[in-house]
Amino acid sequence: MISEDLVIKDLHVSVEGQKILNGIDLTIRKGEVSALMGPNGSGKSTLAYTLMGHPKYTVNSGEVWFKGKNVLELGPDERAKLGLFLSFQYPQEIPGVSVSNFLRTALNAVKSQPMPIPEFVKLLKEKMRLLKVDDKFARRYLNEGFSGGEKKKAEILQMAVLQPEMAILDETDSGLDIDSLRIVAEGVNNLLNPGMGVLVITHYQRLLNYIKPDKVHVMIKGRIVRSGGKELAHELESMGYEKMVKEADVRA
Ligand SMILES: Nc1ncnc2c1ncn2[C@@H]1O[C@H](COP(=O)(O)OP(=O)(O)OP(=O)(O)O)[C@@H](O)[C@H]1O
Ligand SMILES: [Mg+2]
Repeated sequence: MISEDLVIKDLHVSVEGQKILNGIDLTIRKGEVSALMGPNGSGKSTLAYTLMGHPKYTVNSGEVWFKGKNVLELGPDERAKLGLFLSFQYPQEIPGVSVSNFLRTALNAVKSQPMPIPEFVKLLKEKMRLLKVDDKFARRYLNEGFSGGEKKKAEILQMAVLQPEMAILDETDSGLDIDSLRIVAEGVNNLLNPGMGVLVITHYQRLLNYIKPDKVHVMIKGRIVRSGGKELAHELESMGYEKMVKEADVRA
Protein backbone atom coordinates (compact mmCIF):
# COMPACT_ATOMS: atom_id res chain seq x y z
CA MET A 1 0.00 0.00 0.00
CA ILE A 2 1.26 3.49 -0.84
CA SER A 3 1.79 5.50 2.32
CA GLU A 4 -0.07 8.79 2.68
CA ASP A 5 2.42 9.88 5.33
CA LEU A 6 5.65 11.76 4.76
CA VAL A 7 8.39 9.33 5.69
CA ILE A 8 11.98 10.48 6.20
CA LYS A 9 14.56 7.69 6.40
CA ASP A 10 18.11 8.07 7.69
CA LEU A 11 18.58 11.47 6.08
CA HIS A 12 22.08 12.95 6.06
CA VAL A 13 22.51 16.50 4.74
CA SER A 14 25.47 18.88 4.40
CA VAL A 15 25.66 22.58 3.78
CA GLU A 16 28.83 23.95 2.25
CA GLY A 17 30.76 20.83 3.16
CA GLN A 18 29.56 20.80 6.75
CA LYS A 19 27.37 17.93 7.97
CA ILE A 20 24.21 19.31 9.55
CA LEU A 21 21.67 16.46 9.53
CA ASN A 22 23.10 13.22 10.90
CA GLY A 23 20.50 10.57 10.17
CA ILE A 24 16.96 11.87 10.55
CA ASP A 25 14.18 9.29 10.86
CA LEU A 26 10.79 10.92 11.04
CA THR A 27 7.24 10.14 9.95
CA ILE A 28 4.73 12.94 9.60
CA ARG A 29 1.22 11.57 9.51
CA LYS A 30 -1.71 12.86 7.54
CA GLY A 31 -4.52 14.30 9.65
CA GLU A 32 -2.14 15.18 12.48
CA VAL A 33 -0.22 18.21 13.67
CA SER A 34 3.40 17.41 14.38
CA ALA A 35 5.77 19.86 16.00
CA LEU A 36 9.51 19.87 15.41
CA MET A 37 11.36 21.67 18.16
CA GLY A 38 14.96 22.16 19.14
CA PRO A 39 17.50 24.82 20.06
CA ASN A 40 18.94 27.34 17.59
CA GLY A 41 21.19 25.81 15.00
CA SER A 42 20.05 22.22 15.55
CA GLY A 43 19.13 21.77 11.88
CA LYS A 44 15.37 22.30 11.80
CA SER A 45 15.38 24.80 8.93
CA THR A 46 17.97 22.68 7.14
CA LEU A 47 15.44 19.85 7.14
CA ALA A 48 12.74 22.19 5.81
CA TYR A 49 15.01 23.53 3.05
CA THR A 50 16.01 19.99 2.11
CA LEU A 51 12.37 18.92 1.84
CA MET A 52 11.77 21.95 -0.35
CA GLY A 53 14.67 21.04 -2.67
CA HIS A 54 16.86 24.07 -2.03
CA PRO A 55 20.03 23.64 -4.15
CA LYS A 56 22.37 24.73 -1.34
CA TYR A 57 21.58 21.65 0.74
CA THR A 58 23.36 18.47 -0.31
CA VAL A 59 21.71 15.16 0.51
CA ASN A 60 24.52 12.71 1.30
CA SER A 61 22.22 9.76 1.89
CA GLY A 62 18.70 8.86 2.94
CA GLU A 63 15.21 8.88 1.50
CA VAL A 64 12.03 10.92 1.79
CA TRP A 65 8.85 9.13 0.70
CA PHE A 66 5.46 10.68 0.05
CA LYS A 67 2.60 9.04 -1.83
CA GLY A 68 4.86 6.39 -3.32
CA LYS A 69 7.48 8.83 -4.61
CA ASN A 70 10.99 9.54 -3.38
CA VAL A 71 10.59 13.29 -2.92
CA LEU A 72 14.34 13.86 -3.16
CA GLU A 73 14.23 12.81 -6.81
CA LEU A 74 11.63 15.46 -7.67
CA GLY A 75 12.09 19.13 -8.55
CA PRO A 76 10.53 21.76 -6.26
CA ASP A 77 7.56 22.26 -8.62
CA GLU A 78 6.87 18.52 -8.75
CA ARG A 79 6.94 18.39 -4.96
CA ALA A 80 4.30 21.12 -4.87
CA LYS A 81 2.17 19.24 -7.43
CA LEU A 82 2.39 16.15 -5.26
CA GLY A 83 0.70 18.15 -2.50
CA LEU A 84 3.63 19.35 -0.43
CA PHE A 85 3.53 22.91 0.86
CA LEU A 86 6.44 24.73 2.41
CA SER A 87 5.68 28.00 4.07
CA PHE A 88 8.66 30.03 2.98
CA GLN A 89 9.00 28.92 -0.60
CA TYR A 90 7.35 32.04 -1.96
CA PRO A 91 8.78 35.47 -2.70
CA GLN A 92 9.13 38.30 -0.24
CA GLU A 93 7.62 41.17 -2.19
CA ILE A 94 6.26 41.39 -5.72
CA PRO A 95 5.46 44.95 -6.70
CA GLY A 96 2.25 45.27 -8.70
CA VAL A 97 0.98 41.75 -7.95
CA SER A 98 -2.04 41.57 -5.70
CA VAL A 99 -2.48 38.85 -3.10
CA SER A 100 -5.41 37.52 -5.10
CA ASN A 101 -3.45 37.32 -8.37
CA PHE A 102 -0.51 35.74 -6.65
CA LEU A 103 -2.70 33.07 -5.07
CA ARG A 104 -4.36 32.27 -8.39
CA THR A 105 -0.98 31.86 -10.07
CA ALA A 106 0.26 29.67 -7.21
CA LEU A 107 -2.87 27.51 -7.38
CA ASN A 108 -2.72 27.08 -11.16
CA ALA A 109 0.94 26.12 -10.88
CA VAL A 110 0.04 23.02 -8.86
CA LYS A 111 -3.09 22.07 -10.80
CA SER A 112 -3.15 20.19 -14.08
CA GLN A 113 -5.83 22.57 -15.44
CA PRO A 114 -6.12 26.29 -14.64
CA MET A 115 -9.10 27.05 -12.42
CA PRO A 116 -11.70 29.30 -14.09
CA ILE A 117 -11.69 32.78 -12.51
CA PRO A 118 -15.25 32.69 -11.06
CA GLU A 119 -14.49 29.38 -9.37
CA PHE A 120 -11.24 30.79 -7.98
CA VAL A 121 -13.01 33.89 -6.64
CA LYS A 122 -15.52 31.66 -4.89
CA LEU A 123 -12.78 29.52 -3.36
CA LEU A 124 -10.81 32.56 -2.23
CA LYS A 125 -13.88 34.16 -0.64
CA GLU A 126 -14.72 30.95 1.18
CA LYS A 127 -11.19 30.61 2.58
CA MET A 128 -11.04 34.28 3.55
CA ARG A 129 -14.27 33.88 5.47
CA LEU A 130 -12.95 30.77 7.18
CA LEU A 131 -9.75 32.55 8.23
CA LYS A 132 -11.54 35.83 9.02
CA VAL A 133 -9.46 37.77 6.51
CA ASP A 134 -10.78 41.16 5.40
CA ASP A 135 -11.90 41.54 1.75
CA LYS A 136 -9.50 44.44 1.20
CA PHE A 137 -6.55 42.18 1.98
CA ALA A 138 -6.84 40.25 -1.30
CA ARG A 139 -6.50 43.46 -3.31
CA ARG A 140 -3.29 44.61 -1.65
CA TYR A 141 0.07 44.09 -3.34
CA LEU A 142 1.83 41.03 -2.06
CA ASN A 143 3.92 41.75 1.01
CA GLU A 144 4.25 45.45 0.12
CA GLY A 145 4.22 47.22 3.45
CA PHE A 146 2.92 44.08 5.16
CA SER A 147 3.46 43.70 8.88
CA GLY A 148 4.90 40.42 10.15
CA GLY A 149 1.37 39.34 11.05
CA GLU A 150 0.02 40.21 7.60
CA LYS A 151 2.77 38.22 5.92
CA LYS A 152 1.75 35.25 8.04
CA LYS A 153 -1.87 35.85 7.09
CA ALA A 154 -0.93 35.75 3.39
CA GLU A 155 1.01 32.55 3.96
CA ILE A 156 -1.85 30.83 5.78
CA LEU A 157 -4.32 32.04 3.14
CA GLN A 158 -2.04 30.54 0.52
CA MET A 159 -2.09 27.24 2.38
CA ALA A 160 -5.90 27.43 2.55
CA VAL A 161 -6.22 28.02 -1.20
CA LEU A 162 -3.69 25.38 -2.24
CA GLN A 163 -5.19 22.79 0.13
CA PRO A 164 -1.97 20.78 0.39
CA GLU A 165 -1.84 17.26 1.73
CA MET A 166 1.31 17.93 3.72
CA ALA A 167 2.32 21.37 4.96
CA ILE A 168 5.65 22.25 6.53
CA LEU A 169 5.70 25.58 8.31
CA ASP A 170 9.03 26.94 9.49
CA GLU A 171 8.20 29.57 12.08
CA THR A 172 11.71 30.61 13.02
CA ASP A 173 11.52 34.20 11.95
CA SER A 174 8.22 34.89 13.58
CA GLY A 175 9.56 33.56 16.85
CA LEU A 176 9.20 36.79 18.74
CA ASP A 177 5.92 38.00 17.33
CA ILE A 178 2.90 36.79 19.29
CA ASP A 179 0.42 38.09 16.69
CA SER A 180 2.11 36.03 13.99
CA LEU A 181 2.10 32.94 16.16
CA ARG A 182 -1.58 33.35 16.82
CA ILE A 183 -2.39 33.80 13.12
CA VAL A 184 -0.44 30.68 12.20
CA ALA A 185 -1.97 28.66 15.02
CA GLU A 186 -5.55 29.70 14.34
CA GLY A 187 -5.01 29.10 10.63
CA VAL A 188 -3.63 25.62 11.21
CA ASN A 189 -6.43 24.80 13.64
CA ASN A 190 -9.07 26.00 11.16
CA LEU A 191 -7.59 24.25 8.15
CA LEU A 192 -6.66 20.94 9.67
CA ASN A 193 -8.61 18.03 8.22
CA PRO A 194 -8.11 14.28 7.85
CA GLY A 195 -6.61 14.83 4.39
CA MET A 196 -3.84 17.14 5.57
CA GLY A 197 -0.77 16.70 7.72
CA VAL A 198 1.13 19.62 9.20
CA LEU A 199 4.65 19.89 10.52
CA VAL A 200 5.21 23.06 12.50
CA ILE A 201 8.85 23.91 13.09
CA THR A 202 9.77 26.24 15.91
CA HIS A 203 12.20 26.71 18.71
CA TYR A 204 9.59 28.71 20.46
CA GLN A 205 7.60 26.74 23.00
CA ARG A 206 4.93 29.39 23.17
CA LEU A 207 3.58 28.33 19.76
CA LEU A 208 2.37 25.15 21.40
CA ASN A 209 0.12 27.12 23.71
CA TYR A 210 -1.91 27.90 20.59
CA ILE A 211 -1.45 24.79 18.48
CA LYS A 212 -2.07 21.49 20.18
CA PRO A 213 0.25 19.05 18.47
CA ASP A 214 -0.51 15.35 18.23
CA LYS A 215 3.21 14.60 18.08
CA VAL A 216 6.29 16.46 19.30
CA HIS A 217 9.80 15.72 18.04
CA VAL A 218 12.97 17.25 19.40
CA MET A 219 15.99 17.79 17.15
CA ILE A 220 19.43 18.34 18.62
CA LYS A 221 22.63 18.50 16.58
CA GLY A 222 21.00 17.11 13.48
CA ARG A 223 19.30 14.16 15.13
CA ILE A 224 15.84 13.48 16.50
CA VAL A 225 16.60 12.77 20.15
CA ARG A 226 13.07 12.53 21.55
CA SER A 227 9.57 11.95 20.18
CA GLY A 228 6.35 11.98 22.12
CA GLY A 229 2.98 13.61 22.54
CA LYS A 230 1.91 16.98 23.93
CA GLU A 231 3.48 16.12 27.28
CA LEU A 232 6.94 16.37 25.73
CA ALA A 233 6.31 20.04 24.96
CA HIS A 234 5.37 20.63 28.60
CA GLU A 235 8.49 18.83 29.73
CA LEU A 236 10.57 21.13 27.52
CA GLU A 237 8.79 24.13 28.90
CA SER A 238 9.76 23.25 32.43
CA MET A 239 13.29 21.99 31.92
CA GLY A 240 14.49 23.45 28.61
CA TYR A 241 16.80 21.73 26.13
CA GLU A 242 19.92 21.62 28.26
CA LYS A 243 19.44 18.12 29.64
CA MET A 244 18.61 16.74 26.19
CA VAL A 245 21.68 18.42 24.70
CA LYS A 246 23.83 16.70 27.35
CA GLU A 247 22.19 13.35 26.64
CA ALA A 248 22.82 13.86 22.91
CA ASP A 249 26.49 14.60 23.61
CA VAL A 250 26.84 11.38 25.57
CA ARG A 251 25.36 9.39 22.69
CA ALA A 252 27.36 11.10 19.91
N1 LIG B 1 23.19 28.13 3.97
C1 LIG B 1 24.00 27.83 4.99
N2 LIG B 1 25.31 28.09 4.94
C2 LIG B 1 26.14 27.78 5.97
N3 LIG B 1 25.71 27.20 7.11
C3 LIG B 1 24.44 26.93 7.22
C4 LIG B 1 23.49 27.22 6.19
N4 LIG B 1 22.27 26.83 6.60
C5 LIG B 1 22.44 26.32 7.82
N5 LIG B 1 23.74 26.38 8.21
C6 LIG B 1 24.28 25.91 9.50
O1 LIG B 1 23.60 24.71 9.84
C7 LIG B 1 23.30 24.67 11.22
C8 LIG B 1 21.81 24.43 11.41
O2 LIG B 1 21.10 25.57 10.99
P1 LIG B 1 19.52 25.63 10.87
O3 LIG B 1 19.16 26.94 10.29
O4 LIG B 1 19.04 24.43 10.17
O5 LIG B 1 19.09 25.57 12.41
P2 LIG B 1 17.65 25.76 13.08
O6 LIG B 1 17.45 24.56 13.93
O7 LIG B 1 16.65 26.06 12.05
O8 LIG B 1 17.88 27.02 14.04
P3 LIG B 1 16.84 28.18 14.48
O9 LIG B 1 16.07 27.64 15.64
O10 LIG B 1 17.74 29.29 14.90
O11 LIG B 1 15.99 28.53 13.32
C9 LIG B 1 23.81 25.97 11.82
O12 LIG B 1 25.06 25.73 12.40
C10 LIG B 1 23.93 26.87 10.61
O13 LIG B 1 24.95 27.82 10.79
MG1 LIG C 1 15.47 27.70 11.64
